[in-house]
Amino acid sequence: MTETQTRLLMNRQRFEDMHVDSTPAPSAKDGEVVLALDRFSLTVNNVTYAAFGEALRYWDFFPTGIDGQGLLPVWGYANVVDSEVEGIEVGQRYFGYFPSATHLVVKPGKTGARSFRDESAHRADLPEVYNWYQRSDNDPFQSEAAESLHAIFRPLFVTAFGLSDFLADENFFGAKQVVISSASSRTGYSEAFSLRMQSEDIELIGLTSAGHRDFVEGLGLYSKVLAYDDLEQLDPDRPTVYVDVAGNTEVQRRVHQHFGEQLVHDAALGAAHTHEPPQPDEDLPGARPVFFFAPVWVARRQKEWGPEEFNRRVGEAVAAFFQHVMKHRLIEIREQQGFEAAREVLTEMLDGRTDPAIGHVIRLKAD
Ligand SMILES: NC(=O)c1ccc[n+]([C@@H]2O[C@H](COP(=O)([O-])OP(=O)(O)OC[C@H]3O[C@@H](n4cnc5c(N)ncnc54)[C@H](OP(=O)(O)O)[C@@H]3O)[C@@H](O)[C@H]2O)c1
Repeated sequence: MTETQTRLLMNRQRFEDMHVDSTPAPSAKDGEVVLALDRFSLTVNNVTYAAFGEALRYWDFFPTGIDGQGLLPVWGYANVVDSEVEGIEVGQRYFGYFPSATHLVVKPGKTGARSFRDESAHRADLPEVYNWYQRSDNDPFQSEAAESLHAIFRPLFVTAFGLSDFLADENFFGAKQVVISSASSRTGYSEAFSLRMQSEDIELIGLTSAGHRDFVEGLGLYSKVLAYDDLEQLDPDRPTVYVDVAGNTEVQRRVHQHFGEQLVHDAALGAAHTHEPPQPDEDLPGARPVFFFAPVWVARRQKEWGPEEFNRRVGEAVAAFFQHVMKHRLIEIREQQGFEAAREVLTEMLDGRTDPAIGHVIRLKAD
């Protein structure tokens, strides 16, 4: 086991202010397991964890013990390096939600062959979906190559799958088309893919920055792609659902003004620039934006469908999506080593300079 724990700390008010610190590595006490993070992804979604860190309590998952400093949550794979829990052995590998740190101490509750739940007291009232860890070294569908795709896409795809399921359940609120902003984002095009699985008829329109338009057209997932500047070219008389991926309030206002009463639903998914979920203006025409928080949907469907059926449906959809991503080579995986590289990737994302064609993966352990 490594002797030192290294963490990438983020100033909870000024996200660009990040630094690495080192402390002695933890060891497992009775009922505890220590996981060493090996591989994790970084996408704009992680920036949103910081943006909503206070409002949605993302900073509470992994307390730092240092005033004003947070550990950004990331999705990835870790190996058990110390265990005082029966059934969890050193060397097992788990996928889940980790702090941007080399080590995480968990208190597994119920453990099965495939997963455990972290029962640490400070996580008890945080959304359930983040508290589960899936074993991957005994999973025949996991491989070195699949790990990066899983780390990058899985949490985003589950959100997209959930929102599509919700919209289909509501009969698309009577809409004929869905307009998706940040169409180049992984969440945006996972949404387009999932909506297409729900309905052949609904028109899918992607809005993106002018510089990302070719990339979005190349995805082959949208019926039509427009740069933000051109959104007023859309037919304002068609009943429309808006999926607001990254919470740009100026684009949101223009969409509402353009469609007016024909805007039948606005599903707000995230925000990358603010410290609060954006507060829409009171006088926005059309339907009021409603925040779609995936963990709430996951909890509801797990209850209604049962966890096994839920996993089966999501698993099938994820597999179909990964096939599409790989067949069309939608992204290039860029794997880098260490927290300094992570800091640079995050800085790029905070500045809005990220290239959607790159899937960023950080390794902490040399092979
Ligand atoms: N509500 C939920 O439960 C939930 C779950 C998952 C994700 N989300 C949200 O989905 C959003 C996208 O996440 P992702 O991981 O899919 O992103 P991603 O794949 O890393 O997206 C990159 C794209 O996001 C846009 N972008 C980049 N930097 C930005 C910035 N600083 N501000 C605004 N937009 C920026 C650009 O798209 P364009 O050029 O096309 O605009 C860029 O090409 C996040 O805001 C995230 O919070 C929400």
